[in-house]
Amino acid sequence: MVVEMKNTYFSAQTQEIVHDFSMGFEEGKTTALVGPSGSGKSTVLKLAAGVIVPSAGTVFFRDKDIWRMNREQNLAFRKESAMVFQDSALWANQSLYQIMELPMKLHFPNMGKKERDMRMNELVEQVGYRRQLTLRPAQLSMGEQKLIAFARAMLCNPSVLFLDEWTESLDDASAQRLIDLVQERQSLHNTIIFVSHDFRAIKKLADYIIMIIEGSLSQVFTREQIMEDADLAQHLQKGISL
Ligand SMILES: Nc1ncnc2c1ncn2[C@@H]1O[C@H](COP(=O)(O)OP(=O)(O)OP(=O)(O)O)[C@@H](O)[C@H]1O
Ligand SMILES: [Mg+2]
Repeated sequence: MVVEMKNTYFSAQTQEIVHDFSMGFEEGKTTALVGPSGSGKSTVLKLAAGVIVPSAGTVFFRDKDIWRMNREQNLAFRKESAMVFQDSALWANQSLYQIMELPMKLHFPNMGKKERDMRMNELVEQVGYRRQLTLRPAQLSMGEQKLIAFARAMLCNPSVLFLDEWTESLDDASAQRLIDLVQERQSLHNTIIFVSHDFRAIKKLADYIIMIIEGSLSQVFTREQIMEDADLAQHLQKGISL
């Protein structure tokens, strides 16, 4: 397993948001997390990505407890994985150029500016962002922020992707482009965990579909089950449990 969540819980104040969640994510497979708004999908994804600390239970990345890694192991884990946050999470006080430059400087300290710029421009073009990189996030639409967040996530060529509603607030053509880019990552055998309400993305990309209801794993479906059962597909599309 690339990522393994074992009996994880997450509570904030007195509210339990994730309840006894266990799931393994296999190398090279794509898993979609679906469920109603507020059911805990983003929280589960952040736990899997090692962004938030579980209140109880353990999250393993390649058999190592994420929260017990030493500095070197942690850096290697951060380099190998990347996340697109639901709200894009771009630093407000930096230009897009600075935002994208930072992960490359951190993870590839020997890479020259010329190569960094080339890689950045290539990705910006691939995602279809057409404005300047001197702008700051507040000057961008939500959709444009998503494009930059996606480009930033791909800069260090990760092999494990955590994507939270990465096609939300995009026009159809842009959403399709970002779905195609994830499909390219699949052909490179990346391990992908994503949250989406976009049924197109789920149908096209997901090997497994996990339904989360009220912070718990409710059901797991395979792509085949979804493709063969129109009723099930319709229920999933509505985010409703069976
Ligand atoms: N740090 C936190 N402090 C307090 N409440 C939180 C925190 N994180 C999440 N929650 C609450 O937990 C619930 C689940 O949140 P989460 O963002 O995981 O849902 P979601 O399934 O991703 O929803 P959506 O589809 O709207 O994105 C929500 O009610 C949210 O307000
Ligand atoms: Mg969410």
